[in-house]
Amino acid sequence: MRKPFICGNWKMNKNVDQAKDMIEKLKAKVADVTEVEMGICPTALALTAFKEAAAGSDIVTGAQNIYWEESGAYTGEISAKMLADSEIEYTIIGHSERREIFGESDFEVNKKVHAALENGVKAIVCVGETLEERKAEKIEAKVNFQVDAALAGLSEEEIAEVVIAYEPIWAIGTGETASAEEANRVIGIIRDHIRESYPQAAEKIRIQYGGSVKPHNVEEIMAQEEIDGALVGGASLKAESFSEIILKTE
Ligand code: G3P
Repeated sequence: MRKPFICGNWKMNKNVDQAKDMIEKLKAKVADVTEVEMGICPTALALTAFKEAAAGSDIVTGAQNIYWEESGAYTGEISAKMLADSEIEYTIIGHSERREIFGESDFEVNKKVHAALENGVKAIVCVGETLEERKAEKIEAKVNFQVDAALAGLSEEEIAEVVIAYEPIWAIGTGETASAEEANRVIGIIRDHIRESYPQAAEKIRIQYGGSVKPHNVEEIMAQEEIDGALVGGASLKAESFSEIILKTE
């Protein structure tokens, strides 16, 4: 049994006070949730304040990005070790915005995944196709390539602990969602692909869907057999909508 994981990705939104304010509201609303793992990835600036404010709840904290070196002359970066030292549980790696806007490559994604796991930080690895790739029927080739690249060099045990977020790029922040069936189909393709090399990890690895997940569509998405959770952008910014998504998954 894979425990569903609903995680908010705040992207570059909310200052420290706003982050603390929202966690206080959210804590009260999801205090009785037991069947869903809940998390939020605030900005790097708000990570530790958020983590402290989340104390006493089951809400885990994640970063949105890391660099793979432990420390040194890497202006602007934070390391997996630093997250671990602050007891930050997760980090997103390879979000399509990082790949597209900041030119992050599959090679870098893989280095970051290794760094995260070596430091005991869990990785949420994002994969997904563009609209052009979808139209050209290259979905399978694209996502499987990204998954292979991200997981290269990991042991089967490590792969089992990774979270993959399937986020079709055309569905992010657009109000467009892949139909629940289509999201389920692609996530099934990813799981089958992992199963070819890592049969045990394939049963354990959690694969989320991301892309315009909202309170009104989450039930249909979470009813799909292959979908183990959601990575939520816009709808994670308000305690009302994010708690509704969690409570409808519970
Ligand atoms: O990582 C979450 C994401 O990119 C989806 O964003 O706003 O479409 O839910 P949104």
